Amino acid sequence: MLSIVDKYVVKLTRNNQSFFLVLIIMKRTDVHWDVDAVRKKFPLYKEHPMLAYLDNAATTQKPEVVIKRLIRFYSTENANIHRGIYDLSNAATHEFEEVRKKAALFLGSDNPLQIAFTAGTTDSINTVAQSFLKNRLEERDNIIVSIMEHHANFIPWQQLCKESKASLRVIPIDKHGGLDLAQFKQMLDSKTRLVSVTHISNTLGTTNEIEEITDMAHSMNIPVMIDAAQSAALYDLNCRTLSYDFLAFSGHKLFGPFGTGVLYVSENYMAEMKPYRFGGGIIKEASLIDTRFSAFPYNQNPGTPDVAGIISMGTALKFINTLDKTKARAHISILTQHAIESLKSINGVKVYGGGKKQVGIISFNVKDIHPHDVASFLNKDNISVRAGMHCTQPLLKHLNLNGTVRISFSIYNSLEEVDRLKNSLQELIKFWK
Ligand code: ALA
Repeated sequence: MLSIVDKYVVKLTRNNQSFFLVLIIMKRTDVHWDVDAVRKKFPLYKEHPMLAYLDNAATTQKPEVVIKRLIRFYSTENANIHRGIYDLSNAATHEFEEVRKKAALFLGSDNPLQIAFTAGTTDSINTVAQSFLKNRLEERDNIIVSIMEHHANFIPWQQLCKESKASLRVIPIDKHGGLDLAQFKQMLDSKTRLVSVTHISNTLGTTNEIEEITDMAHSMNIPVMIDAAQSAALYDLNCRTLSYDFLAFSGHKLFGPFGTGVLYVSENYMAEMKPYRFGGGIIKEASLIDTRFSAFPYNQNPGTPDVAGIISMGTALKFINTLDKTKARAHISILTQHAIESLKSINGVKVYGGGKKQVGIISFNVKDIHPHDVASFLNKDNISVRAGMHCTQPLLKHLNLNGTVRISFSIYNSLEEVDRLKNSLQELIKFWK
């Protein structure tokens, strides 16, 4: 497919008559990413073939292999794990522990013991707050986050700081929507106990420079946590190159089931991950007086975890490994650029900048129309978007906004869907006048 990337109008005058020559520069914008073939793997599109699902930052659709894995577990393999001395339970335990290996490899580690299973990114971040930082944080210490954090990577630290009388330092953004790393550098000091930032902003689509951030923090021996909720599906998260200390992601944003997630902890800090929720399944020995707990990661899941969900998240990781991620990312970048250009070309639409490397997520507003009204209008045209504050109230308040409309792409989205979005917005603006 060809897309317009630039347009020039040249005025020519001859014999007192003027002519306008329009030069259109086009570029090939497909990367041979076969959207139709991808959509066939997702049963939802059989039911809703015309749906333009542009809310992938909220959750991705699920491929048939993942749905089938969930059904197969409950139909033929259902048993609790880590407890039974019988075949069905042993097999379930084996499948569950295989996912730990897969998740470690997914992040470039060959040590599955660095992986704890959680209910999602929010749960992973709360785990680091309660299990790791709570006992280390003292009055006058500080934690650094950024203004673009999702509440999940903001409130747990804010509340911990309040409890400990520590302070929360907030990295600002520059005028392009990128993190101000010069200011970040100045915030780091000997009292900084953790830096926790998002890889990709769920509201602006900004991609943050993780390597630079970890290098700066590590030069002062400060651990770094990465919220990879928006990046884990397609972007490189190798723990060796990015050298983060903690990383969180959710299964449901990488084609897996709801209620599943991963927390990666670097070997330096594994021993400091204390249990903070108590119950069965995490105990070495318990008496009337006291308890000895298992080591990380087995001290993090008291009670029964979502066994079927975690095993199916493993299938989602396998599904991702079958994708050509380089092409998938190129496809998402093309959709992002096309959408930004299309939105900017509409009179009355304001697009909010997502830094120099914006991928997959775009926030915008339509002049004088509430984001919820925009979303309802688009819904009538079978286009699903999110509208509101996107769980990033500190960011929106900083930008002086009450909300935005947000679109977010995944592997099954197409340029045609972006064009439908543009047409629908143009119709809305006409209708609203
Ligand atoms: N965190 C998800 C979002 O940004 C729900 O939409």
